[in-house]
Amino acid sequence: MSASSGSIAIIGAGSVGSAVAYSLLLRQVVADIILVDIDHNLCQAQVQDLSDATFLSNVRIRQGSVEDARKADIIIVTAGAKQKPGDTRLDLIDRNFKVLKSILQSLQPIRSDAILLIVANPVDILTHFAQGLSGLPKGQVLGSGTLLDSIRLTRILASKLKVADSSIHSFVIGEHGDSQCVAWSAATVQGTPLLKVLPLTEAEREEIATMTKMKADAIIRVKGFTSYGVAAVTARICEAIIFDHRQVLPLSHWQEEWDCCLSLPAVLGRGGIVSSFPLHLQDSELSFLSNSAEYLKKVISEYSKDL
Ligand SMILES: NC(=O)c1ccc[n+]([C@@H]2O[C@H](COP(=O)([O-])OP(=O)(O)OC[C@H]3O[C@@H](n4cnc5c(N)ncnc54)[C@H](O)[C@@H]3O)[C@@H](O)[C@H]2O)c1
Repeated sequence: MSASSGSIAIIGAGSVGSAVAYSLLLRQVVADIILVDIDHNLCQAQVQDLSDATFLSNVRIRQGSVEDARKADIIIVTAGAKQKPGDTRLDLIDRNFKVLKSILQSLQPIRSDAILLIVANPVDILTHFAQGLSGLPKGQVLGSGTLLDSIRLTRILASKLKVADSSIHSFVIGEHGDSQCVAWSAATVQGTPLLKVLPLTEAEREEIATMTKMKADAIIRVKGFTSYGVAAVTARICEAIIFDHRQVLPLSHWQEEWDCCLSLPAVLGRGGIVSSFPLHLQDSELSFLSNSAEYLKKVISEYSKDL
């Protein structure tokens, strides 16, 4: 596979940003990757380290400024504070809202066809604010959302069923955080409803949903951060955009019905979110989703005055 001629800028060259660069490089998604960080020495060291891996692909990687990032096809934001053990993703809002605001101010004038991909947490709230602050059409601003949670869920289900992950379609929806929920009624194995081939009790479903939700906390408690999963997910999102895959992925994007950004399946292509993909949910799942939306909107309204 050869890389497309496009470019991707990653703002934030810490654990997540550097792992994203590494995934993009190995997958040869674009020919040029630009890393940007306010910590110039760290950024330079990450670029030097990553450049030792470019012999595997035809990808160029370099350190750049926000002005360079402006010209990229996709701009990924991984800059900001990360969770400390015991923190929720929402605990990061104060710091990361300010970081996002300053980055988006510096990115102006942004390329009118750029795709802005938010990975920093709390991802749904930052995606919501990025839509307003960037001036881009809402479909061009998205967050990695619950794609990572959905992949974690699928892994658990696949191991129970002893089938390949790719045979299962299962979605975590709502907030990438504590109020997320599993869309059990929409989960299928090769077209058959999952609960028909894997009849789980309510307690078992709750246990799987909790394991999915708490996986990041378990990792952070030991190694201090997560990076590989989110990096692989981010590379998958970028591939779908650059190569116009039209893949259906659970991503944080604008939801007219819920009046905020949260994750539901969406068709992803070259222009960003092509459309939301309808999920037929049960009343109990809709009520979870509604709680997730109410929770996010409450935080958004608190910060809206600081815009
Ligand atoms: N969405 C997901 O699924 C997911 C998964 C893991 C981590 N995250 C989030 O990703 C973010 C980054 O995590 P990390 O582990 O890489 O943290 P990190 O501390 O290793 O890296 C963050 C980097 O951002 C840089 N930075 C801060 N302000 C900046 C600015 N204004 N401009 C440019 N760079 C700036 C810092 O210098 C640092 O290098 C966190 O918010 C974390 O919660 C999201």
